[in-house]
Amino acid sequence: MNFASRIALRQLTRVAPRSFSVLARQTTLAQAPRAAVCKVAFTQTRGLKTIDFGGTKEVVYERSDYPPAKLLETFKNDTLAVLGYGPQGRGQALNLRDNKLNVIVGSRKGASWDKAVAEGWIPGKNLFEITEACDKGTIIMNLLSDAAQSKLWSTIKPYLTKGKTLYFSHGFSVVFSDDTGVVPPKDIDVILVAPKGSGTTVRSLFLQGRGINGSVAVYQDVSGKAKERAVALGVAVGTGYLYETTFKQEVYSDLYGERGVLMGAIQGLFVAQYEVLRARGHTPSEAFNETVEEATQSLYPLIGANGMDWMYANCSTTAQRGALDWWKKFHDVSKPVFEELYESVANGTETRRSLEKNSQPNYRSELEKELKEIADHEMWRAGKAVRQLRPENIQAN
Ligand SMILES: NC(=O)c1ccc[n+]([C@@H]2O[C@H](COP(=O)([O-])OP(=O)(O)OC[C@H]3O[C@@H](n4cnc5c(N)ncnc54)[C@H](OP(=O)(O)O)[C@@H]3O)[C@@H](O)[C@H]2O)c1
Repeated sequence: MNFASRIALRQLTRVAPRSFSVLARQTTLAQAPRAAVCKVAFTQTRGLKTIDFGGTKEVVYERSDYPPAKLLETFKNDTLAVLGYGPQGRGQALNLRDNKLNVIVGSRKGASWDKAVAEGWIPGKNLFEITEACDKGTIIMNLLSDAAQSKLWSTIKPYLTKGKTLYFSHGFSVVFSDDTGVVPPKDIDVILVAPKGSGTTVRSLFLQGRGINGSVAVYQDVSGKAKERAVALGVAVGTGYLYETTFKQEVYSDLYGERGVLMGAIQGLFVAQYEVLRARGHTPSEAFNETVEEATQSLYPLIGANGMDWMYANCSTTAQRGALDWWKKFHDVSKPVFEELYESVANGTETRRSLEKNSQPNYRSELEKELKEIADHEMWRAGKAVRQLRPENIQAN
């Protein structure tokens, strides 16, 4: 047994509870790193690949086809104006700067401005008020919050003159233009690169020499080069693989996913499972461990690495029987809620709600109340204590 498989087994036996005892015994090197031995079928033509995703062929662009010299050549006549220095603005601007492109930041004075100064952006040189950055930029990278994109649209629009490019990391503003008021002028390119993760990860993966996955889309191609420039820009801001999409598909899937399994549905499921365990007499630590800790520390990373099919094939026969019997029931009861959610995204209800709530004067205080309700829930308070007992958080005596 080599080092990798010893580590895999140690991880399984250390954090995995009962259901994984059989897995620990059964797992062999041949089974465990399936992802590593599984070959991806693709065909390549000049910078893009067509990859078979479970039977459907899709186009994917890869960072290695856009080396630094090509990026410098593509944007040699451009000034990239990144508006906003929130998670995305920061991550993308720093990556562009490290890629030696001509990048400036546009921000209002306040928290973001101060952070930018602290990270080496110099007022009057490469850090400006938003309008000045828009004036100087040839590619306007609108990474303000989605609500601010709508609020400041009439300020930004006059600077979007012929020949410039407007860039987003979310289809939100343009797709829901009836609600946001964001209608780009017809004589400019409009493109999108949406990293599949927070700006913090965009930056940290870049620093590790890796790239985050992202989506790329073109809304308007006036120059005839919008796609090529969008892909190059995607690589320049720090993505590794770029998947083709449209503005509409990007924003629908993103709003749906974060309200669903990524954040909304998962919190709902965690709480429901926890509450039943507590009502049936289980201690907070037991209820938390069986609901959240085992999921996030043991099973989800393994699902991420190998897939749910592998998980089902490699757990104890007892866990396997139960999961096989129950997943369809959860599917059947939750699918109507997912249908309702998708409809609420597609008909703009989610956008209107987000714009309305996020632009109220008491937005911060109301948000804090809602977040406090989650933080004060016994499950997440129990979680704090459980996390302190993780091996990495226990001080050696
Ligand atoms: N976060 C993600 O995971 C993620 C992933 C992919 C794409 N995106 C997209 O990337 C874009 C930026 O996201 P983000 O998470 O970085 O945004 P964010 O944290 O919500 O805000 C970004 C910036 O907007 C500025 N801002 C807010 N209201 C303003 C106003 N009224 N006037 C001027 N500036 C204002 C903030 O400045 P202050 O500090 O001064 O308030 C901050 O610099 C959005 O379109 C988002 O959907 C986000």
